[in-house]
Amino acid sequence: MECLSVKGDQLFIGGADVEALAKKYGTPLYIMDENTIRKNIKEYKDSLNKYYKGESLVLYAGKAFCCKQMYKILTDEGIGADLMAGGETYTAQASGFDMSKVYIHGNNKTEQEISMLLDIGVGAIVADNIYELKNIQQIAEQKGIIAQVLLRVKPGVEAHTHEFIQTGQIDSKFGVAIENGEAILAAEYASKCPNINLKGLHCHIGSQIFDYPPFELAARKCLEFASLIKSKFGITIKELNLGGGIGIKYTQADDPIDISKFIQGICAAVESNCARLDLPLPKILMEPGRSIVATSGITVYTIGCVKQIEGVRKYVSVDGGMSDNPRYIMYQSMYEAVRVRKPIDDDTETVRVVGKFCESGDILLPDIKMPELQVGDLIAIEATGAYNYSMSSNYNRVPRPPVVMVRDGKDYIAINRESYEDLVKNDA
Ligand SMILES: Cc1ncc(COP(=O)(O)O)c(C=O)c1O
Repeated sequence: MECLSVKGDQLFIGGADVEALAKKYGTPLYIMDENTIRKNIKEYKDSLNKYYKGESLVLYAGKAFCCKQMYKILTDEGIGADLMAGGETYTAQASGFDMSKVYIHGNNKTEQEISMLLDIGVGAIVADNIYELKNIQQIAEQKGIIAQVLLRVKPGVEAHTHEFIQTGQIDSKFGVAIENGEAILAAEYASKCPNINLKGLHCHIGSQIFDYPPFELAARKCLEFASLIKSKFGITIKELNLGGGIGIKYTQADDPIDISKFIQGICAAVESNCARLDLPLPKILMEPGRSIVATSGITVYTIGCVKQIEGVRKYVSVDGGMSDNPRYIMYQSMYEAVRVRKPIDDDTETVRVVGKFCESGDILLPDIKMPELQVGDLIAIEATGAYNYSMSSNYNRVPRPPVVMVRDGKDYIAINRESYEDLVKNDA
């Protein structure tokens, strides 16, 4: 990870000494480097500005990591956000974020959530299905307003990634499929709703994707669908939201695509298809999450016990686990890790790093080569900035760790450590 460096025997992130931060804030501890987040955002923004002739807006996918401080960074960088209705939206609003730059996802928004979104005046609601369109129409009519809506379509593109994070194919709970006629029925329905302005289409084909062609194919399919809507219902699509999904380097085996080349390819695909189909250039929206925050973050743990089981393996137990990083138990996700002190010592043994929770599947690193690890050592798991804090839980009633941000060697708290009092505060 670019934001990590070694000086003498010590590991640094964003110029801050990891061991000193662990002493100051305790472990487990999430640490995120603000400059990496800003650099990644800038790469998306600058590439869209460079390669696209039309308008564009980057919408950070809040599901990857969401807190008030994150929205302050997005505000500073001048981008928008892709959020779920409810808590993610509330957090953005509480941070003073410009809600007209917020696009709302989800395959089952409640009537209460839709009403809240219309009152807030978000940039658009991405309608997942015909029931949602019906609810949006009814609620917007009651309020006497026109709802700004994008329709989420399944372009029929299969991305090569874990099946739980593939979403562009027909067998997905998200959106309406183009290939079986669901999408055209939904668009027709929207075209007849007086309180809906169908201003765009949205697709998201999956996550942790390493190929360019599926994204370009998805853009083509969406634009062909836009052309069909134009000819059938006279609706011109003004915004094309191509989702997120760019993969990142969790381990040496991962070979991520280059963001700027990826954007160049997408822009060329949109421009050439618009020319072919005689469509005006839509505003392109992109929703990266993982590729903005994942490589900004590490999680630091203290080793509490080491068990050598002769002829089997060596287990190293740390003071966190599946509640602060559920990605191994959910997707068998792989990570790399370093010992915090003397990180560049030779890797001399293969160990399984496990958490402290009451599940045998509570694994963080199934088989990793590390220098010798002893009780009391600190280890840092890399690239945990995305979908770690945001997917964390209080399983076994363990409080969530804090998130500390660093910038140019200075640290500050973005999210406080939960306390035992926090855990019981909603108990009746
Ligand atoms: C609709 C939508 N947009 C964007 C994203 C962000 O994807 P990633 O973090 O892989 O970039 C997701 C992830 O699940 C998503 O569902």
